[in-house]
Amino acid sequence: MGAGGSDPIREVARLLAERRNAVVLTGAGISVESGIPSFRGAQGMWAKYDPTEYATLHAFMQSPRKVWEMLSEMVSVCGGAAPNAAHKGLAALEETGVVRAVITQNVDGLHQAAGSRRVIEYHGNLDELICVYCWKRYPTRDRWTPGSVPQCDCGEILKPNVVLFGEPIPWLAQEQAEEEARSCGVLVVIGTSAQVSPACDIPRIAKELGAAVVEINPEPTLLTRTVADVHLAGPASEILALLLQSIRDEEH
Ligand code: APR
Repeated sequence: MGAGGSDPIREVARLLAERRNAVVLTGAGISVESGIPSFRGAQGMWAKYDPTEYATLHAFMQSPRKVWEMLSEMVSVCGGAAPNAAHKGLAALEETGVVRAVITQNVDGLHQAAGSRRVIEYHGNLDELICVYCWKRYPTRDRWTPGSVPQCDCGEILKPNVVLFGEPIPWLAQEQAEEEARSCGVLVVIGTSAQVSPACDIPRIAKELGAAVVEINPEPTLLTRTVADVHLAGPASEILALLLQSIRDEEH
């Protein structure tokens, strides 16, 4: 299969309908249409906040109040966002058995809000805070208000239970994600620049085990000319709507 096909949307729809055990890897791009900025690129979070100063575990341990300037913005923006047609499209494909699981790098919880059931949160979730001294956990809504720096009962400043640079991926999420990648027939990669490891290795693992790799992104990425069999160029909601329609056509 290749981008040279007459109708790549139709080809991908046929593949998804035939194989019926697709796994999806998502990045910030799928939530851009929900009003959450991505990380890289001119409008990205990292254009405003230098990640070496605001997004590493070391920076958090050194200056938690400073890091919370960035985190507060993320919690506010994600808290006010709703799932878009792309999130809902994936939930619908799970319902019909075409998609088996979503592995997300996003910490916004929008896949679950859209109705997806098997969601592997590779970089954690903003809905929970954790104390990196006594490991106590709290729902973010119980401890955080806009502009505040949430504290643990032990007095230390709390961190969202997300993976900052320099932190390991939660082992269960890593195990589950790699297991899904090793055993899927199609890996669909949506809205990631594939610049951050180990998440960017997931398509390679799937490919090595024989899966077809389909990329959905308005821009080419590091995967486009290496691992991806097909690059469907466009916004996630638009491409998924076309795929859903084409799969319906295939099945009737
Ligand atoms: N639909 C699909 N893709 C889109 C859309 C859209 N509407 N808008 C933008 N994109 C694409 C961009 O072209 C880009 O390739 O989404 C990608 C976003 O890339 P990044 O900002 O690098 O985000 P991501 O790949 O998810 O970052 C990975 O890095 O900063 C850390 O922990 C953070 O999870 C994050 C990780």
